[in-house]
Amino acid sequence: MIRLGAFLFILTSLAGIAFAAEETIATLRAAAISETPQAPPMARVFNRDLRQVRNYPEQPPLIPHRIDGYQVDLNTNKCLTCHSRAATGESQAPMVSITHFMDREGQFLASISPRRYFCNQCHVVQHDVQPLIENEFVDIDSLLSAEGQGTEN
Ligand code: HEC
Ligand code: HEC
Repeated sequence: MIRLGAFLFILTSLAGIAFAAEETIATLRAAAISETPQAPPMARVFNRDLRQVRNYPEQPPLIPHRIDGYQVDLNTNKCLTCHSRAATGESQAPMVSITHFMDREGQFLASISPRRYFCNQCHVVQHDVQPLIENEFVDIDSLLSAEGQGTEN
């Protein structure tokens, strides 16, 4: 027990030294922890009605329109009033794809699967804001074409 205690003590001391050596801690906090900065103004939601390019094939597409006040709960699903199979003739909205009818065994149900009922679990709007941190994401097509040219990245 004593040995274990000593070992743990050394470990925590080492961690403390490593922590002290780190000069700045990465944070998105804009002000000191003791201050209450003024909240930035609410950003505008992109509402351009233009479907966005997906960053990778499995990405749930971004919502290109406002969704303020669109209720989705046990009683009603506003999204489906436009995006359900039956509604698309009237709404001209893209239909939810066939994966939205699949249960977890991959069987196709007659209507939207409960796993896909709460649309905002996966689909989100975008806001007109500057990114808080740099984004280094590289599209797969850029990667593939770079590879085709025989470069490293
Ligand atoms: C009043 C009809 C209507 C309602 C309600 C509606 N949408 Fe849409 N949605 C559209 C139309 C039309 C488009 C095609 C692009 C456009 O015109 O904005 C679209 C586009 C989308 C797209 C982009 C699809 C793609 O392939 O890029 C997503 C995702 C989406 N909507 C999700 C939702 C979600 C989630 C809700 C509920 C919170 C919702 N929509 C409610 C009409 C609607
Ligand atoms: C568990 C995550 C998830 C939920 C919940 C979900 N979706 Fe999706 N959705 C996706 C993914 C992933 C895609 C793209 C791949 C695909 O089509 O399955 C997609 C695609 C779409 C598309 C584009 C279809 C096409 O063919 O271009 C629309 C429209 C859409 N979803 C609407 C909705 C609506 C409306 C709801 C709520 C009723 C919803 N989704 C719920 C993940 C989800």
